[in-house]
Amino acid sequence: MNIPQQYQIKDTINQDTYLVEGALITWRGETSEIYSTISSTIDYRPTLLGTIPTLGKKEALKALDSAVSAYNKGQGLWPTMKVVDRIACMEKFVEQMKTKREEVVKLLMWEIGKNLPDSEKEFDRTVEYIYDTIEDYKQMDRNSAKFEKNSGVNAHIRRGPLGVVLCLGPYNYPLNETFALLIPALIMGNTAIFKPAKHGVLLISPLLEAFRDSFPKGVVNIIYGRGRTVAAPIMQSGKVDVLALIGNSKSANALQNQHPKSNRLRLVLGLEAKNPAIVLPDADLDLAISECIAGTTSFNGQRCTALKVLYVHEAIVEEFNTRFSEKVDALKFANPWEDGVKLTPLPEPDKPAYIQDLIDDAIDKGAKIINKKGGHTTENYIFPAVLYPVSKNMRVYEEEQFGPVIPVIPFSDIEEPLEDMAASNYGQQVSLFGKDVKTLAPLIDTLVNLVCRVNLNSSCQRGPDVYPFTGRKDSAVATLSVHDALRSFSIRTFVASKDNDYNNAILKDLMDSKASNFVSTDYIL
Ligand code: G3H
Repeated sequence: MNIPQQYQIKDTINQDTYLVEGALITWRGETSEIYSTISSTIDYRPTLLGTIPTLGKKEALKALDSAVSAYNKGQGLWPTMKVVDRIACMEKFVEQMKTKREEVVKLLMWEIGKNLPDSEKEFDRTVEYIYDTIEDYKQMDRNSAKFEKNSGVNAHIRRGPLGVVLCLGPYNYPLNETFALLIPALIMGNTAIFKPAKHGVLLISPLLEAFRDSFPKGVVNIIYGRGRTVAAPIMQSGKVDVLALIGNSKSANALQNQHPKSNRLRLVLGLEAKNPAIVLPDADLDLAISECIAGTTSFNGQRCTALKVLYVHEAIVEEFNTRFSEKVDALKFANPWEDGVKLTPLPEPDKPAYIQDLIDDAIDKGAKIINKKGGHTTENYIFPAVLYPVSKNMRVYEEEQFGPVIPVIPFSDIEEPLEDMAASNYGQQVSLFGKDVKTLAPLIDTLVNLVCRVNLNSSCQRGPDVYPFTGRKDSAVATLSVHDALRSFSIRTFVASKDNDYNNAILKDLMDSKASNFVSTDYIL
């Protein structure tokens, strides 16, 4: 097997510590092996990458206690700390994190099969997200460094933390999406318990020391183990204030239902989607096809924002299918570090079989695979099959495939995709391809009410991270973006006093003495 020197796995990572109460605690109990579906040998064999602790309920509850006592009913060092000091901790963290780029990028490739440019992008985008978050938080702080007076009441309004956050990220962006939850949660003064995803877990190891060294004890707790064993008891305790999860709605529902006090629990959820592309008869086909290729196949379709169904007008569907299929077949499948690779091994060993089931079901119900390589299977991959014509009774229409299979549905009346979108359980984004503004305008006006982002002649995507990322129905709860995430993880809270000499003298004294971190009109430049 020809693996470049710098990407070879020479030593396994035996992650035998976890982070609780500001210390990396050594674990001598049961461990779980982490395999990559990428082979290091000519005869196919999954590669052992290392091991992680299989923590139990006891350790999970210890981590919870650690976060609860760091928050200490709002009296903890972290939630009461000056904004400028919390920012200093975050800056220290990101500086240390940047030194681990190579290790993390290599593990992203091995653990989840993400290609090299996209793995590098995931790391760099995350670093940038942290810096942007710091800047936005400074701006928020500047905006709230003032008093307001209304109807004879003075008020000093800021955003305050919510409490203890349980943070769970997905395998497809194990660094970026998890940190896009964890970083704003922390900077707003919450304390957190974070459990990495099942795939994309060892890449957190190089960052454990940075977490330990940058934040006060108990502010970040990192645990390993099965969700059912560790996350369930944490939720059952009723001590979690925010469930922050990027994943699927079934696990989010199961977890939130375990919490005994539903009004205490705030939710920040990024869930599944079935984003459609709608290709109108006057669309620029070259553009529509290249955007649909990116939308359906980048990272093998394992993105919540991936295009998961293509509605193509019947007047152009034949030409679209021919040219689209050729382009799909031209995509290079190889290991993540290979030049020009677009399709890469799937990290979930049972994914090819699942995709095959979807294909078989669609074929049974009348669809055909229209590209030559579609459905070709190897040990860790199944080549994207373009299925046509897909109808509503097929599983691939209903289920979020989250993998390489592309359903195409012909339509004659625009009401057909609109009806389907309205009936769908999901409502994240849509891609709309066309030119005539008389057709586009009413469509845009309708689509914005069915989803939360209409991508005109472009594939769906989350970025740039300054834009709101959210969804309707089962696709999301709360909004993420650099700006919105700070709001999702905090609540408006304020000090109010009647405008009279007695109170005003106290307020003045509070500010002059700089005794309160909340009542302060100091600016961070
Ligand atoms: O899995 C869903 C991600 O948020 C998608 O992000 O559009 O940047 O790939 P992306």
